Amino acid sequence: MLRYLKPIRTNSMEKMTSKDFTLLSILLSLCWAQQSDPGSERPPCDRCDLQLSCDCSHGGFTHVPMVTDLALTLDLSFNNISEVTEDDLTGHSRLKALSLQGNRLAAIHPSAFDSLWSLENLDLSNNQLKALNHTWFRKLGALQQLNLLNNPYRCLGSPSVFQSLSRVRRLRFGGPALEELMKGHLLGVTELEELTMHANNIIRYESGALADIWPLGHVTLSLHGPFLTNAALASAVLADVSYPHTPLVLEDLYWMGNESARPLKETAKKRIRSLTLRNFTASDEAIVSLLNTMTGVPLMVVSLEGMTLTGEGRWEGASSVDLKTIDEIYIRHPVVIDLFQFVEHSSYLFLLQYPSKVSFINAEVFVIPCLTSFLLVNVHYLDLSNNLLTDLTLRETLCHGCSPLKGLRVLNISGNALKSLSTVSHLVEKLSKLTHLDISRNAYSSMPQHCSWPHTLRYLNISRATLSTVTQCLPKTLEVLDLSNNNLKSFLLFLPALRELYLSGNKFLRLPPGWLFPNLQTLTLQSNTLNTFGHSDIRSYERLQSLQAGQNKFDCSCDFVDFLQSVFEGDGDVQLTDKEDIYVCDSPLYLQGEVVSQVSLSLYECHQVLCVSVICGVVLCVSTLACVLLWYLHAIWYLKMTWAWLKAKRSSRRRQKRDQEGTEARLSYDAFVSYSERDASWVENLLVPELERTRESSEDSMNAVSPRPLTLCLHKRDFLPGHWIMDNIMSAIESSRRTIFILSENFVQSDWCRYELDFSHFWLFDGNAGGEAAILILLEPLPKDNIPKRFYKLHKLMSSTTYLEWPQEEEKCEEFWESLHKALRIDD
Ligand SMILES: *[C@@H]1O[C@H](CO)[C@@H](O)[C@H](O)[C@H]1NC(C)=O
Ligand SMILES: *[C@@H]1O[C@H](CO)[C@@H](O)[C@H](O)[C@H]1NC(C)=O
Ligand SMILES: *[C@@H]1O[C@H](CO)[C@@H](O)[C@H](O)[C@H]1NC(C)=O
Ligand SMILES: *[C@@H]1O[C@H](CO)[C@@H](O)[C@H](O)[C@H]1NC(C)=O
Ligand SMILES: *[C@@H]1O[C@H](CO)[C@@H](O)[C@H](O)[C@H]1NC(C)=O
Ligand SMILES: *[C@@H]1O[C@H](CO)[C@@H](O)[C@H](O)[C@H]1NC(C)=O
Repeated sequence: MLRYLKPIRTNSMEKMTSKDFTLLSILLSLCWAQQSDPGSERPPCDRCDLQLSCDCSHGGFTHVPMVTDLALTLDLSFNNISEVTEDDLTGHSRLKALSLQGNRLAAIHPSAFDSLWSLENLDLSNNQLKALNHTWFRKLGALQQLNLLNNPYRCLGSPSVFQSLSRVRRLRFGGPALEELMKGHLLGVTELEELTMHANNIIRYESGALADIWPLGHVTLSLHGPFLTNAALASAVLADVSYPHTPLVLEDLYWMGNESARPLKETAKKRIRSLTLRNFTASDEAIVSLLNTMTGVPLMVVSLEGMTLTGEGRWEGASSVDLKTIDEIYIRHPVVIDLFQFVEHSSYLFLLQYPSKVSFINAEVFVIPCLTSFLLVNVHYLDLSNNLLTDLTLRETLCHGCSPLKGLRVLNISGNALKSLSTVSHLVEKLSKLTHLDISRNAYSSMPQHCSWPHTLRYLNISRATLSTVTQCLPKTLEVLDLSNNNLKSFLLFLPALRELYLSGNKFLRLPPGWLFPNLQTLTLQSNTLNTFGHSDIRSYERLQSLQAGQNKFDCSCDFVDFLQSVFEGDGDVQLTDKEDIYVCDSPLYLQGEVVSQVSLSLYECHQVLCVSVICGVVLCVSTLACVLLWYLHAIWYLKMTWAWLKAKRSSRRRQKRDQEGTEARLSYDAFVSYSERDASWVENLLVPELERTRESSEDSMNAVSPRPLTLCLHKRDFLPGHWIMDNIMSAIESSRRTIFILSENFVQSDWCRYELDFSHFWLFDGNAGGEAAILILLEPLPKDNIPKRFYKLHKLMSSTTYLEWPQEEEKCEEFWESLHKALRIDD
């Protein structure tokens, strides 16, 4: 399916083959020179998946590798590429995302990206670009995201590198080397969803340089240096990007002095609503300065991520903190250097009574005293994930089940050290508004038979525990249940309201029965031990829309392959929402590792039983037909006749040889009589006595010698027992002067078998013997039409030879015998 550009530069040679040798050799040497030019060799990279997404990261490439020009995304990150040349990327007009992050890029050809008309996302971060050039981007009209972070350029330069990038919505630039940002450097950038600027070492900023970008969705600024040494510059930057509805993130702050937060006055003036401080180190003075600066600002969201407090919590300097508007406090990974001193002095816990969302994540919280919990009266959402809570301290935190957190809707205590499901269910039972409970990544290993949950609970996450069974403990009210990454083997529990069920990373061998979940819409079962599933499994789920079941040990039977491919083609209501590539065959052995959607099984493999039966059937039919046909065409008869003919030929040769040797053939009989069994009585009672008795000479042959009796050869009497009948017949004929055929209806029709054998005699009359050796006696009138056509010899014989007819009238018999005698004694 994938087509690769082949690294062949000598295609032109083919056209030249007819030209004269000199030209060819010149060309050859040229090509040779080109190929041996070090650095022009581009290695191929074929790590593309079915979605045409090519991951060539961490491949040690020193040049942009050859990749199919159908690729939609190309990840070249973390290689050793130092240059993008003019034709490295030609032909990639479909490419939507290109990442060159983490290389050693120092040079990009001015038209290197010219053919990337569809490119939406370009990442050039973490390289060695000392200067940016607007010519790179002039054809990238579709570009929406551009990342230029952490390159050693000192300024963006003019003319603005962004002037043709009117669609860019996410822009990241700057780095440790960025020194100046002037008006006009960002010309062309008008409206952004996200702006990230790393300007920790910026020393020149022209006021207004960032002011033209509006609307501005989300701003992240690293302004370490300016905050420390150049408050005016920091103020100017902040003034340009602060808007009430633009969340502001400030990174890499190191605030020690009592004036540190002063540049934020500009932001405060603009009455921003959301402020995040990330990688932020502050002294007590700095905190006081911050609190004073922000007092009165209608701040709603305050996030402190990676905060280090060096002081003791002596914040009295903040005379009148007014932060009643705060709705959300998000604190992640705080470090308090002098924890014990700090707790003693801290008197700002009252701030906790305002927000409705409080998160203390990864904060080494092992308990929140019940009294403090009482402060959290407004809290709807409490996230205490990744802390050190145990069953015991959770009891204290939730005030032993008579929790003051009456309004709590979401409780996240994921990633703690909890062990007892009955404890947690008991503690949250009275939280009459609780809808979401995340107790994932805890140490739950078993589920009690019964638990008590609030009736409002809809969402329960117990993933990444070590549960091996599910019980009635799970509440019937659940709509979303996550039990992924446990040790479950089966799930037999009726949950009528359930819409989403996550069971990835367990040990399921088959899909749980669908009738248990009449409302289920989403089911994940990735990384289990599923062998197979099919239409009937899916059909048992009435409402299922999305299923993820990749990374299982699939047995690629025909039914399964067929089923899965039809689902991938969009048949049915259920969609497989994970990637096709992760549905891989585990068995049979010869398909191991193959992507199911790429497997093609032959018709024979798929319908072995059917095929074998069909083949057998066909063979049977054909042979029956052949038999019928052979029977119809009397082939057996012909075969036998041919055989007889061959034999006859042979024996006639033998006879000739005997003749040549001089040994006179002894004719021991006068006639061989060939007749049908049914005419035996006639033969035995009339013919034989008549011919074999000594006949008195009649009046008209007075002078004749009394004729000797004739000797007849009858098969019944004279054939040697134990010899093949044909041989007998043959030798009888050979040793008889004549052959008498007793023809009748019986002879021709009723007595096939003998007739056929007997008929072989006619072959003998092919040669010199001719028709004279045969005497035909018609016992009854035998119309020629009654004789089957294949006895054409008989036909011939009957028309060429006169035959004797056995008279119906008594008185003519004598005449008949007379004629017969005459015929038999012709050469006497
Ligand atoms: C890049 O090249 C340097 C030496 O030039 C080498 O040390 C480094 O391991 C290479 N990196 C990769 C990802 O191959
Ligand atoms: C950009 O590249 C063009 C062509 O190589 C060059 O002429 C021009 O000087 C470059 N501009 C900058 C600002 O480097
Ligand atoms: C945090 O900020 C300091 C400067 O205050 C900086 O040196 C350090 O690299 C930053 N850390 C991270 C992870 O960005
Ligand atoms: C900051 O501290 C200095 C002395 O360390 C003092 O002179 C100055 O008044 C203080 N400023 C504020 C705003 O408290
Ligand atoms: C709970 O916290 C964890 C880790 O911080 C997070 O992954 C999860 O999404 C949170 N759960 C809810 C329901 O917000
Ligand atoms: C359940 O928790 C895990 C781990 O915290 C998280 O990754 C997952 O997204 C959560 N599940 C749902 C359905 O939110």
